[in-house]
Amino acid sequence: MADGRHTLLNRLDPPPAAAAQARASAGTAAAQRPSARKVHIKTYGCQMNVYDSRRMADLLAPLGYAETDAAEDADLVVLNTCHIREKAAEKVYSELGRLRRIKEAPGRRPMKIAVAGCVAQAEGPEIAARAPVVDFVLGPQSYHRLPELIARDAREKGRVLETGFDVEAKFDVLKDVYGAAAANEGPTAFVTVQEGCDKFCTFCVVPYTRGAEVSRPGSAILEEARMLADRGVREVTLLGQNVNAWASDGDGQGAWGLGELCRALARIDGLDRIRFTTSHPRDMDDGLIAALGEEPKLMPYLHLPVQAGSDKILKAMNRGHDADHYVRLIDRIRAARPDIALSGDFIVGFPGESEADFEATLDLVREVTFASAFSFKYSRRPGTPGAAMGGHAPEDTKADRLKRLQALLEEQRVAFNAATVGRRLPVLFEKPGRRAGQLVGRSPYLQPVHAMGPHGLIGEIVEVDIVGTTPNALAGEMAGEAIAAAEKGAA
Ligand code: 5AD
Ligand code: SF4
Repeated sequence: MADGRHTLLNRLDPPPAAAAQARASAGTAAAQRPSARKVHIKTYGCQMNVYDSRRMADLLAPLGYAETDAAEDADLVVLNTCHIREKAAEKVYSELGRLRRIKEAPGRRPMKIAVAGCVAQAEGPEIAARAPVVDFVLGPQSYHRLPELIARDAREKGRVLETGFDVEAKFDVLKDVYGAAAANEGPTAFVTVQEGCDKFCTFCVVPYTRGAEVSRPGSAILEEARMLADRGVREVTLLGQNVNAWASDGDGQGAWGLGELCRALARIDGLDRIRFTTSHPRDMDDGLIAALGEEPKLMPYLHLPVQAGSDKILKAMNRGHDADHYVRLIDRIRAARPDIALSGDFIVGFPGESEADFEATLDLVREVTFASAFSFKYSRRPGTPGAAMGGHAPEDTKADRLKRLQALLEEQRVAFNAATVGRRLPVLFEKPGRRAGQLVGRSPYLQPVHAMGPHGLIGEIVEVDIVGTTPNALAGEMAGEAIAAAEKGAA
């Protein structure tokens, strides 16, 4: 730090005993049960961040931190940030401005502010310079050290920057908090199985912010899933930046890929639905495709980003496959699981994208047909190869292409939903709806479903007749016998 008011401790190489230390400090704190304090965790970006935020809450609970929805009410505020596009990153700085006013209000009790996640990793020193109000900067592979940092801060006072990549140590520490987790997960839960990315798509910051691909051991994942099932979780979604690159020893039974892992999870009693996200077309192997076809607990929904339909752009993006490869892959997946709902990610206006290149994306979408999709204007990310390429499209060209692509994708989404009207689908109900007596759940295809039914069916899988669609959901009706059967199953 230039102003010398703070000590900036850069621990790029955490000591080998870091994991043990963090565990020990969490354990000691649990034994002491200090007086109640409040933490406000605000999450930006992907499901991996949602998962990480839950684990931070779990790590902080033994230190006496209860969660609060309001930053105004908190002793500790954690911003778990996203760096994927410029807009996401800029939001963090405006939120820090708001937090500063709260923290520095006259008479305010002391408040600590931590910036975690991918902005912390990518812009740690810049955050320290731009926002002196921040106390801790923690990368996505270092947040397991939060309890230790808080303890250290109480002794040493100073700003801390933690941006190491000790993923294995993180998995090791987190292993111990899963069982003690204070948060009630409800009937669905995320489980991180893989982190990081070695693909280096030329637009993407993830390989720099999350580091290299690392898989969690199969035995640890199965153990966590069993524990979740014991707590009443019916559906798990396996998370990874490249989830289908997951590989591990399968409980001493030789090398496993994601297909084998899903089959092993399917054998856990009480766990009825398995999903995984996000997959890469290059890692979609035969074992996983076969599992999708054969394992009924594996839900018929696949998020398989393609990004673009032009071979020239796919090459410039370093995606490692062409459009034809993707289309043939989808054919094989549909041969194995004909009803699969496909979802994708798209980027328009990548450097060098011509009108003809963009139309190739529209052609691919027409050929494949998607049940849902996420689409974005290319955002120039400093430090990525794409940022240095020539031919950046003007903003209005990107906006126009995005509008045209989204119109087509929306047409396909609406058609997919309409095609489920008249079918009877098993729905896992997750929570009450906005209207009295209404429940909200998900179909196997991840569509939200609204239906009237007794509150006791939350956490149950019920056969529902799909009778209509609303802009963002399906409208369903439960037959009396379906309610009775589900209630009997729940008893
Ligand atoms: N600009 C726009 N979209 C991006 N994505 C990743 N990086 C960028 C970027 N620089 C999108 C991709 C990816 C999703 C998570 O975010 O479509 O699959
Ligand atoms: Fe980013 Fe590409 Fe890795 Fe996905 S596969 S996280 S888009 S670099």
